[in-house]
Amino acid sequence: MKLVRKPDAFRKIMEEERRKGRSLGFVPTMGALHEGHLSLVRAAKKENDRVAVSIFVNPAQFGPKEDLSKYPRPVARDRRLLEKVKADYLFMPSARDMYPEGFQTYVDPGPIAEGLCGKYRPGHFRGVATVVAKLFQAARPHRAYFGIKDLQQCRVVAQLIRDLDFDIRLRVMPIVREPDGLAMSSRNAYLGTRDRERARAVSQALFLARKKFAEGERNLSRLRRAALDILAPQVDRVQYLEFVDAETLEPLRKARLPMAAAVACYVGKTRLIDNVIMGPSK
Ligand code: PAJ
Repeated sequence: MKLVRKPDAFRKIMEEERRKGRSLGFVPTMGALHEGHLSLVRAAKKENDRVAVSIFVNPAQFGPKEDLSKYPRPVARDRRLLEKVKADYLFMPSARDMYPEGFQTYVDPGPIAEGLCGKYRPGHFRGVATVVAKLFQAARPHRAYFGIKDLQQCRVVAQLIRDLDFDIRLRVMPIVREPDGLAMSSRNAYLGTRDRERARAVSQALFLARKKFAEGERNLSRLRRAALDILAPQVDRVQYLEFVDAETLEPLRKARLPMAAAVACYVGKTRLIDNVIMGPSK
């Protein structure tokens, strides 16, 4: 695997691969890689001749009180993992190279970024959309891989691709979970033993809502109540637990497909998000 640090050099390498007729897959990450990330790389390997992964802890998407400085950065381990899944290129730019002095143009997403996490993390999706646009410009991949773990991010990126005319196919991949259901996340590393146990309630609450929906429950207040009864006693603060249109993310007043249940909550000081997409009832 070739490590590339400069955006210009990365662009040239990817251009050259494209010129040779190779299909290019791209997996943007912030590192501290786990099976969730690696599943994206594996999917990209299957569908493309060359796969580039980026690791960049993007300052623009962290709020002033968020965990930018303590975000985990196990670089040597990440590189080993990427070698193992046979990524071809690792793009690891510095903050200075991505946001040089004088940088001032941001990508401002629309209403898709306003609800759910957007409400609690002002500016977050602006930071995401900006860095993803810049990474897309550098990589110019045929396909880009994102996890539906970050449901709203997937929809923001889909909108970005449409609105800014990126010629990139968005590939949205399923959530990889720990054996007890907890969605894998770099931030799970913050959880101590007791908090890690309590964090199980997040997926359990969502799975219960999905099960009740599949069994025919259509009353959203009752679905929400059932999920909250599992979640609320275990976590320290529920930021939201909402039923939304799985595509537009509009809040739903009546249950219908396509529907997602999405949650954000704090376990100790760690903010966790998760979601499930509801299936058709049997
Ligand atoms: P990061 O949190 O590192 O996630 C990188 C990619 O991995 C995202 O597409 C995310 O949805 C996916 N992912 C994370 N956990 C997953 C899981 N358990 N199962 C499947 N996929 C999972 O998301 C970001 O970085 C950043 O916002 C980024 C897009 C890189 C822009 O800075």
